[in-house]
Amino acid sequence: MPSTDLDWWRDAVFYQVYIRSFADGNGDGVGDLAGIRARLPHLIDLGVDALWITPFYPSPMADHGYDVADPRDVEPTFGDLAAFDALLADAHAAGLRVTVDLVPNHTSHAHEWFEAALAAAPGSPERARYLFRDGRGSDGAEPPNNWPSVFGGPAWTRVPDGQWYLHLFAPEQPDLDFTHPEVLADLEETMRFWLDRGVDGFRIDVAHGMAKPSGLPDMLPMEDTGLLADHGPGDHRFDDDGVHEVHRRIRRVLDEYPGRMAVGEVWVSDDDRLAQYLRPDELQLAFNFKLLTAEWDAEDLRTAIEHSLATVEGTPAPACWVLSNHDRPRHVTRYGDGIVGTRRARAAALLQLALPGVAYVYNGDELGLPDVDLPDEALQDPIWERSGRTERGRDACRIPVPWSGDEPSYGFSSRRDTWLPMPEGWDRLTVAAQADDDASMLSLYRRALELRRTSSALRGDGLEWLPAPAGCLAFRRSGGLVCLVNLSADDVPLPEGELLLASTDVSDGVLPVDAAVWLRA
Ligand code: BGC
Repeated sequence: MPSTDLDWWRDAVFYQVYIRSFADGNGDGVGDLAGIRARLPHLIDLGVDALWITPFYPSPMADHGYDVADPRDVEPTFGDLAAFDALLADAHAAGLRVTVDLVPNHTSHAHEWFEAALAAAPGSPERARYLFRDGRGSDGAEPPNNWPSVFGGPAWTRVPDGQWYLHLFAPEQPDLDFTHPEVLADLEETMRFWLDRGVDGFRIDVAHGMAKPSGLPDMLPMEDTGLLADHGPGDHRFDDDGVHEVHRRIRRVLDEYPGRMAVGEVWVSDDDRLAQYLRPDELQLAFNFKLLTAEWDAEDLRTAIEHSLATVEGTPAPACWVLSNHDRPRHVTRYGDGIVGTRRARAAALLQLALPGVAYVYNGDELGLPDVDLPDEALQDPIWERSGRTERGRDACRIPVPWSGDEPSYGFSSRRDTWLPMPEGWDRLTVAAQADDDASMLSLYRRALELRRTSSALRGDGLEWLPAPAGCLAFRRSGGLVCLVNLSADDVPLPEGELLLASTDVSDGVLPVDAAVWLRA
């Protein structure tokens, strides 16, 4: 079992397993629980502390598992409960914690509650667990309000008897009504189900959703109402004050299980509003997405870091840093792709892992995977169709992980064709190709994570900005680590100190452009 330190998560490195794309154990071209279990040695060598596994519950896969038909079972594509228990036991035996996704805001349309709601009449108790409303206009043919779905199109779908139901995401993801007592009671039951099995915590999906303002008023019309961005106080779909009561209920359950935690996916950019989710009786952690949305620019990154630290100041929470996830373009690609994007991604890894608090690594970050442009016919994300084929969606950052070999599927699966096709040319990015190469991205991550575990320089919550050449970032951790990142257009001299790690060769005493270095002052 992992150590019993109850606050283990405060400086942990979590590894996000996007289950469909991590490792395929049964040869159907889709990742699964058995695949994760077989690949635990990679995660142990990498040196992460905990896993977050994306949803593996029964689902029609309209949103690849974020449309949950039964939150207390396993989708056969991914395995069964015994496979989950076996994975959990092996992970714990190796000292790895395991956290799982909780998707409270909505269910699948195939959930038994929604099927019962559709079969029942308007005004029935079956409909009261969701947000069914009559439409506007003389014959009710207009949606009840002007809210758009973040996947495109209206957030309302009409059913044959004329009523409409709310879905902030796809029509196959009806929103639950959190004022209904059974909804929260069921969420608590789901939490206990997984906590009793031994999970170490949850990642809470759309943790700023759930509560809706009473009367469901129109929102301010906005240009971009798309996926997972914060549109501020005029957007009534998210961050309603009532959501905090839901978080207090979630926390009360967690507190019955010492040492377990929850991190919220909270797309709220105002520091003070985000901090409210981190009050002592709410979430232990909230993703801070400011690094993920910042440009490769010293000013932008410094602002991102300062706001993230300001958010947690005055809360019990540490900061929680994310560079990439399954919803956004990968950072190699955001930073320019190719050699430049990869150099910057190496530097960004040292920046992220030097910051005080928690870090989330998305599967493939440690290999330097870029996004992959897929042909139209390969696209699977509901965003593609819902946007009228104007937005390509998130498939590009969800390509399966390459493990070994020279051609697709690079050891991911026993078959060549995978749920999203893997590109030619990824043989140099496989785990096997990088494992013994000191200059690889994988070696950089392993070394950085080893230093995080073993060096006192990387301890302490304090961060002090240091004077730095124009276009560079430099800070000192209270444990003594100095991190310098060169985002300028010229080489800069290396500061004084013992060299711990660099994203590139610094043997001539300078830090090149788009590179980062760790020193002990
Ligand atoms: C998840 C997405 C998902 C959405 C709806 C998000 O925040 O990260 O992948 O599509 O929630 O559940």
